[in-house]
Amino acid sequence: MKSSISKFYQMGLKQRLQLVKKFANLNNNDLRVLKSCGGLSFKSANVMSENVIGTMAIPLGIATNFLINERDYLIPMVIEEPSVIAATSNAAKIARVKGGFTAIADQSLMIGQIQVVDLQKLLVSGEKVLETKNKIIEIANTKSRTLVNKGAGVRDVIFRVIDTIQGKMLIVELIIDVRDAMGANIVNTMCEAVAPYIENVTGGRALLKILSNYTTKRLTRASVVFSKEEIGSEIVNDILLAYAFAMSDQYRCTTHNKGVMNGVIAVANATGQDSRAIEAGAHSYAARNGKYSSLTSWSKDNNGDLIGSIEIPLAVGIVGGISSVHPLVKTCLKILHVKKAQDLACVMASVGLAQNFAALYALVSEGIQKGHMSLHARNVAVISGAKGKLIGIVAEIIADEGNVTTHRAKEVLKNIKKQR
Ligand code: MEV
Repeated sequence: MKSSISKFYQMGLKQRLQLVKKFANLNNNDLRVLKSCGGLSFKSANVMSENVIGTMAIPLGIATNFLINERDYLIPMVIEEPSVIAATSNAAKIARVKGGFTAIADQSLMIGQIQVVDLQKLLVSGEKVLETKNKIIEIANTKSRTLVNKGAGVRDVIFRVIDTIQGKMLIVELIIDVRDAMGANIVNTMCEAVAPYIENVTGGRALLKILSNYTTKRLTRASVVFSKEEIGSEIVNDILLAYAFAMSDQYRCTTHNKGVMNGVIAVANATGQDSRAIEAGAHSYAARNGKYSSLTSWSKDNNGDLIGSIEIPLAVGIVGGISSVHPLVKTCLKILHVKKAQDLACVMASVGLAQNFAALYALVSEGIQKGHMSLHARNVAVISGAKGKLIGIVAEIIADEGNVTTHRAKEVLKNIKKQR
């Protein structure tokens, strides 16, 4: 079944759910969870976090039209901001013309860091660590039979001597293949497990034992072509100008990357990822060359078509964490039908790229407020309810003004009444 479902946005809840059910082969329990507007009982919430007094629902929508690595995807996105899902779906629709998105993710290699202090001869200590690499790997791997049985677990041990404001330090790093998990827990457990042995070998003191969220060995790349026939040569050229602005100005680039993360994090939220880890890693990666830069890049090919690509670290998991606990997350993963964490990363990178295109397209054409404001007006109309139907209608009419609020709509309505 294709993900290019026409007029999905115009359908009622029942029809949308039936379509998603058919697409993703959902069962009645999945539908019940989707309809339950949050799907999380107090009991489950209370074991996920602390001092729980309730749960917070945010809209879960479906981005349509996605074709990634020649497979059709309906993509669950959890986001409160209007127009993101609509814009992403529209970008994916245009992308389909030239074959959709192509994406590839690195193996799931995480980095665990052990900070060794109180050392005199740092390089000698580092060499000693390397000499005992096999033993360190053996100790670490005792902490996850599951990974070892899958042929994963610790792949390597390396060291670096770094200069700090407190003098030089030895940093020992475990490179761990965590397969389909995000991996934070197992990485931290392994770092703590090997720390006493590293202290013995070096004579130093292992202070911090923690993963790095700068997951440079877990990058995902996606690319896409937008046909100039579909979007027009002017838009192609103007998007290149907008990209140049972002590449040369940190104030703009931060907003440009925020647009990328609108897509990435909405999918992260729907699939129960650690969004803070993803954000931290992405922005750190954007500054990898010493200058904060765009996560995406845009150019024009010989045909005049717009070529986009993204490279982003994505430490995401489809096992462990809340993915096996949260009923809605489980259903969202089912809708995506991803078999590996790498597949999910490919989806997220593609959505980030689509979202960036959609934002740039809007910015260089009608501006961002028109789409935003008409959707926001709809919210005002809904909030006003039947009693305030007129206010809602006024809100829709003044949507172009750029400051649609219930208060403003009431004011305009009062003026109209006065004039009559
Ligand atoms: C709004 O959430 C995101 C944008 O500001 C991104 C951008 O400016 O590129 C529209």
